[in-house]
Amino acid sequence: MSASPLGDMDPETFRREAHRVADWIADYLADPSRYPVLAQVSPGDVRKQLPSDPPDSGESFDVIFSDFEKIILPGITHWNHPGFFAYFAITGSGPGVLAEFLSAALNQQAMLWRTSPSATELEEVVLRWLQRLMHLPDEFEGVIYDTASISTLHALAAAREQVVPAVRERGMAGREDLGRFRIYCSDQTHSSIDKAVILLGLGHESLRKIPTDADFRMRVDALRAAIADDRAEGITPMAVVATIGSTSTTSVDPLRDIATICSDESIWLHVDAAYAGVAAMVPGFEHLLDGVETADSLVVNPHKWLFTPFDLSVLYCRHMDVIRGAFSLVPEYLRTTDPSGIRNLMDTGIQLGRRFRALKLWMVMRHFGAQGLRARLAEHMRLARLFAAWVEASDDFELLAPVPFSVVCFRWKPTAAQSESAIDRANERLLEAINKTGEIFVSHTRLDNKFVIRLAVGNLHTTEVHVRLAWDLLQRHTKTIDPTLNT
Ligand SMILES: Cc1ncc(COP(=O)(O)O)c(C=O)c1O
Repeated sequence: MSASPLGDMDPETFRREAHRVADWIADYLADPSRYPVLAQVSPGDVRKQLPSDPPDSGESFDVIFSDFEKIILPGITHWNHPGFFAYFAITGSGPGVLAEFLSAALNQQAMLWRTSPSATELEEVVLRWLQRLMHLPDEFEGVIYDTASISTLHALAAAREQVVPAVRERGMAGREDLGRFRIYCSDQTHSSIDKAVILLGLGHESLRKIPTDADFRMRVDALRAAIADDRAEGITPMAVVATIGSTSTTSVDPLRDIATICSDESIWLHVDAAYAGVAAMVPGFEHLLDGVETADSLVVNPHKWLFTPFDLSVLYCRHMDVIRGAFSLVPEYLRTTDPSGIRNLMDTGIQLGRRFRALKLWMVMRHFGAQGLRARLAEHMRLARLFAAWVEASDDFELLAPVPFSVVCFRWKPTAAQSESAIDRANERLLEAINKTGEIFVSHTRLDNKFVIRLAVGNLHTTEVHVRLAWDLLQRHTKTIDPTLNT
């Protein structure tokens, strides 16, 4: 008998199964590399093993867990694997996983201060800690959302709120009093900016992509000219998005210069530091965010490179009152008599409900300590530089971008390949071949119209051994690919 009279799992069964799950997780986290990093299943493989209807009567956890191992696990791509070098590598660290366990049990819904005083106040405290570590201005106030896409959406909604008169009441459609608006970002900016612009009803055409220099950094002269052009045409600048750690190459836009332009022109400056912002805590990188003193908002994702299990994104904003002005709406059933001045998290965004995400960031920061966090970030950057040095020293490979943090962009350059498209194809096939091994997972991008392999270090368990394995696998597999074939 595993159900209590009320239907939930009875306490003793819960205790037993929780121990089993804890043991399973401990073994898993001790060595995720016993699984292939990239799931080796075909589309539909997981689905076809599952019934089309839910069970009529409840099943024992024993049976459910056995199906988890048999059916679900093979379809898992192991982001915790030390050979995970794709996209931005992340870590579900022990303290973060334990916090998620507690957070699920407490089942907090922190829409109002009174519905979770601890979630509300811990969020404030832990975001101040992160703010100090990253040398962000004291005037910024932070709020936790799920992803950078949502953080950026809120930042740009606030910019729209400031620029478009009475947008909350009157919207934008059919208004003859409104001209056109523009948001600027570089041609390397993440697609979440495009999506935010589309969703905010500005139209994709309102996003102007500024060209980048040879190191993929926004060209300040081009930004200045674009703004002047637009103003001459009667288009009102709404916001500029500068990126610190762009998605393809991790390039760093010249924030100080961009900030000066935005101050001079009174334009909202949003900084997308989703991946690399945390590097500002590492000795030698203290000035990474110079210029942020006059920025209006910044997004950083502890779920990317701060060992916090997915998901947790932080938006820092100088004008949280503008975000509240855009989003706060209190129906009678949510009105409280709590003292004024308390934070109700539902006021700072589109979602009413809030998970207790601050708990995991708090536990992660306490477990590692500032020194521990800095040391690991620095080590990841050392590993990336080491890999980049091997690429540079090789006659068969070339680097295609600078390596400011923990990501290396490179390609195989076989002398036998006759054309750029043959080199592209050879690299695509090389990537497919190494990913099929299940030992490492690496992703790609395209730069200057070249297919580029991208190795991202970011998992806590990744060591020099794994980076060397990636290099060895790449070299070994070049011997199995005919680079003259252009198909
Ligand atoms: C620079 C940058 N900004 C934003 C995002 C979007 O992140 P999220 O998945 O948290 O929305 C990414 C994702 O990789 C990114 O690299």
